[in-house]
Amino acid sequence: MRVWAISNQKGGVGKTTTAMSLGSLLAAEGKRTLLVDMDPHASLSGYIGVEGGAHGSVYDLFGVSGNPLPVRTLVHATQWGNLSVLPASAAMITLDRQLGTKPGMGLVLSQALAELAPDFDHVLLDCPPTLGVLMVNALAASDRLLVPTQTEALALAGLERMLRSLSMIERSRGKPMPRTIVPTLFDARTHASRACLAQLREQYGDVVSEAVIPTDTQIREASAAGVPLASWPAARRGGLAYRQLLAELLAKPATAVTDAAA
Ligand SMILES: Nc1ncnc2c1ncn2[C@@H]1O[C@H](COP(=O)(O)OP(=O)(O)O)[C@@H](O)[C@H]1O
Ligand SMILES: [Mg+2]
Repeated sequence: MRVWAISNQKGGVGKTTTAMSLGSLLAAEGKRTLLVDMDPHASLSGYIGVEGGAHGSVYDLFGVSGNPLPVRTLVHATQWGNLSVLPASAAMITLDRQLGTKPGMGLVLSQALAELAPDFDHVLLDCPPTLGVLMVNALAASDRLLVPTQTEALALAGLERMLRSLSMIERSRGKPMPRTIVPTLFDARTHASRACLAQLREQYGDVVSEAVIPTDTQIREASAAGVPLASWPAARRGGLAYRQLLAELLAKPATAVTDAAA
């Protein structure tokens, strides 16, 4: 079972869209795919139409009030074949405060996913933009990190912040986290977009995916309609870019970067 975390501390950079798009493409290829919504804003859950508040969510894995719920009872099949979801709920925003420094809480998701290993080929974790217990759990559970990065100047500062936090987490995890920076919301017509992409490639080299996700109104329409990209044939340009990204990620081992190079 492969587990990829999709994370960036900046909002609106395409994390949820990337999780949903790659997830639906994997499922369409016949891979048993689980999307885990780690973001208390629950936009992925909303996208798929599974309401975590009513049905249980990632929150219930932590056993804050009472016993943790078994992970299998929290996973829902979706109307799209091979695609399942473990939803989020707003209560997750209180986890950091409620758990405080309780030991062992960083591995809750890893342990839950280990139970699901026979059921899924691929797991994608849609991370929150904040560095807290949810993010720590996501990074501890995953073997690869995808960092969608909007191709605009301000995003580069956010990316550096994200990579610094990652170094901190890597030190406590004791091994480097292979990562891929995915340029998103690229608009070839604007100088700002092109300059930012060039800078990303210059600064991070191989860590940046060859695939670049364009700004594509059809991607926005698909997400507004709650339809995954693989089932939205109109999203031609964006769909092609996500297909290229997936092929690249499956073919290429992720680049592990040492602190110094990050
Ligand atoms: N490639 C794209 N082209 C056009 N709109 C996009 C694209 N990627 C994301 N969006 C839109 O941008 C908004 C933010 O994307 P989202 O994936 O929710 O970001 P995040 O999860 O990082 O906050 C959403 O409305 C989404 O539909
Ligand atoms: Mg999101």
